[in-house]
Amino acid sequence: MTALEHGAPGRAARGRKVFTKAQCVKCHRFQNEGEPIGPDLSSARRHLQRKEIVESVVFPSAVISDRYRMIQVRTKEGAVYTGMPLPGAASDDKLVLFLSDARKLEIVKERIEEQTVSKVSLMPAGLLDALTSEEVADLFAFLETSKVNLPAVGTRNDLHQAQ
Ligand code: HEC
Repeated sequence: MTALEHGAPGRAARGRKVFTKAQCVKCHRFQNEGEPIGPDLSSARRHLQRKEIVESVVFPSAVISDRYRMIQVRTKEGAVYTGMPLPGAASDDKLVLFLSDARKLEIVKERIEEQTVSKVSLMPAGLLDALTSEEVADLFAFLETSKVNLPAVGTRNDLHQAQ
């Protein structure tokens, strides 16, 4: 199949399904869908070039803003958990961590032995590995369907050529 056979709107519509299939929807909002754990991607295209979006997905830990830092918690029992604290879900005696597999974990604060800041992103690396190159192209077409869509820059055709 060539890129010509798929109009961009068709790609974007299929990309929306890929957004769900590849778990993105569990941590990101895109327009009116998804969970607000990571940055809202509706306007990602406004401040990031496609190359930077691809890099964020392939190497999630390269750049992490302080707002999305994960912490690592070691309990008195010696169990170690890494996740992003959800302040809204916490209480005086409990901490709630959002884990990389999109599960939420409650930890009783009394059980915490040590708490450190993690250098790893909550966003798992390798999310695109499970997708076909067609699905990856669809996903990026979808991420570019913002209302304030800028003309695509530079690397636009890289993914098509990869097929
Ligand atoms: C388990 C949660 C999780 C999943 C699943 C996830 N992300 Fe993320 N993502 C994050 C977090 C947290 C950040 C912010 C920290 C960072 O940059 O690593 C982020 C950052 C990003 C960024 C950079 C945004 C910016 O404004 O800098 C992009 C782009 C992105 N994710 C796209 C995706 C796509 C596409 C998928 C699906 C293939 C996906 N993410 C799946 C949690 C997740």
